[in-house]
Amino acid sequence: MEVTARYKPNIEITVDAEELASRTVDLFVAAAREALETKGTFHVAISGGSTPRGAFEKLAASPVAQALPWQHIHVFWADERYVPADSPHSNYRLAAEALLRKVPIPPDNIHRIPTEQEDICVAARAYETILREVFELDENRVPEFDLIVLGMGADGHTASLLPNSFATFDTDDLACVVYVMDGRFNRITLTHPVLHAASRLVVLVSGAEKADTLKEVLASEPDEVRYPIHVLWPVLNKVLWYVDRDAAAAITG
Ligand code: 6PG
Repeated sequence: MEVTARYKPNIEITVDAEELASRTVDLFVAAAREALETKGTFHVAISGGSTPRGAFEKLAASPVAQALPWQHIHVFWADERYVPADSPHSNYRLAAEALLRKVPIPPDNIHRIPTEQEDICVAARAYETILREVFELDENRVPEFDLIVLGMGADGHTASLLPNSFATFDTDDLACVVYVMDGRFNRITLTHPVLHAASRLVVLVSGAEKADTLKEVLASEPDEVRYPIHVLWPVLNKVLWYVDRDAAAAITG
């Protein structure tokens, strides 16, 4: 597997998307138990898209996960499409249907990005306020998630840090607006200082359509404009990659 010598991503290749989902469940439970033991709470940020659904459904079906003290677990989003919460494109709705409505988590512990705000900038500021309140942060501090679950788009984006977008370089805000020109949805995303501050991150990469991009991302020098997922390079020691065999096809030869 050809990767630049300086960077050693911690990649685990799974047989298929099913095994990738199972590993993600194990990691979620392990990270939750560790944080609950040491701090009494577990703060996790999740992503949307198609890949996490399998893991969310398995998590909801797992007796071990069901037994977690959900009253001490706080769920946030790494990013959201600027659509109503009941939209089929909503990352919140995805997680609510596949997981959150099936586990005993108090509604107050679910901190979704408030896309009902008329103005997307107001929504991003409102999400930032939620982050500061729940993490009890003053102005200069960044929330430290126990786990952030990310994906990778076929264009090399993660969360909603999209190629050629300012958001990738925003270090003043915890949450940033991303205007999408090609008619898809505008987005709100956590910024890279928040990703960097997390104790643990996992990147879920599934599907043959990601294979060439993954190879490029791993083989090239960091270029956050082209491949925003490179914002993780300074913290690769905290990032675990679960890659299914189809997505790994170009790096396993
Ligand atoms: C989103 C996600 C995004 C996702 C990637 C991968 O809102 O779309 O949060 O960052 O993780 O686009 O998406 P897939 O899992 O659908 O390939």
